[in-house]
Amino acid sequence: MPAELIDGVAIAKQVRAEVAREAAALIARGVTPGLTAVLVGDDPASAVYVRSKEKACIEAGMKGEAIRLPADTPQADLLALIDKLNADPTVHGILVQLPLPKHINAQAVILRIAAEKDVDGFHPVNVGRVWIGEKSGFAPCTPAGVMVMLAQAGVKVQGANAVVLGRSTIVGKPMVSLLVAESATVTVCHSKTRDLPSVTRQADILIAAIGKAEFVTADMVKPGAVVIDVGINRVDDATNAKGYRLVGDVQFDAVRAVASKISPVPGGVGPMTIAMLLKNTVRAAAQGLA
Ligand code: GUN
Repeated sequence: MPAELIDGVAIAKQVRAEVAREAAALIARGVTPGLTAVLVGDDPASAVYVRSKEKACIEAGMKGEAIRLPADTPQADLLALIDKLNADPTVHGILVQLPLPKHINAQAVILRIAAEKDVDGFHPVNVGRVWIGEKSGFAPCTPAGVMVMLAQAGVKVQGANAVVLGRSTIVGKPMVSLLVAESATVTVCHSKTRDLPSVTRQADILIAAIGKAEFVTADMVKPGAVVIDVGINRVDDATNAKGYRLVGDVQFDAVRAVASKISPVPGGVGPMTIAMLLKNTVRAAAQGLA
């Protein structure tokens, strides 16, 4: 029997409805949760993401604002903008869309965002808070979304062998942190891992976040495993009007035949990222009231 689908669109919709209720409760107390996204330059994919984030905030009854700056914006100007947003009481969440142009040091920018407004969860203070299990920390939205998907799909994380394929700062490393917090036995592997298939085959839960189109093949997956595909890769496709199609890091059809549950691309982890961003922003606004 092919694996059951873990429907990120449906789960994200539930999370967004919950966020809208929480936002309404805060608005009744005189606080409208607000997110400001900053986009530097004109990378088309980043522009789409930022527009979606702004729109999702507004749909949830929150304040969503995007500030678009030219690609040659000096780093000092961006840091000055962040100082201004840090000091603005109507802004509860600040997000600087990555990647940034090469002349800007992304780490310096992330460090400048007040940890209490860092709803991306990239600031080292939040990385540390999440790692030690301090509830006030903001977890990065994509791995946080994966945890919600696992919970909603009824996957038992406690005691499971979880394998994270990929060690990025945005997904792989925080994924390890969140899985450990839920008492999984976690292995992180990556492009330099020796005999990768023998490691991934140990997984009861396999999180693919290596950023390579259809990298995970059926022989890398233990029968009955739960597979979450975090990848979003463009591959050329002349039959598609856009000239490309989106695929994940997993060979979907082949792996679906082996796994017990699997998230598709698109329609899996992607929609969860924005939902969790809204959730973090509402939490930032509520923490400001406490
Ligand atoms: N670029 C790709 N993913 C993300 C994300 O989650 N946050 C930010 N700020 N930039 C990104």
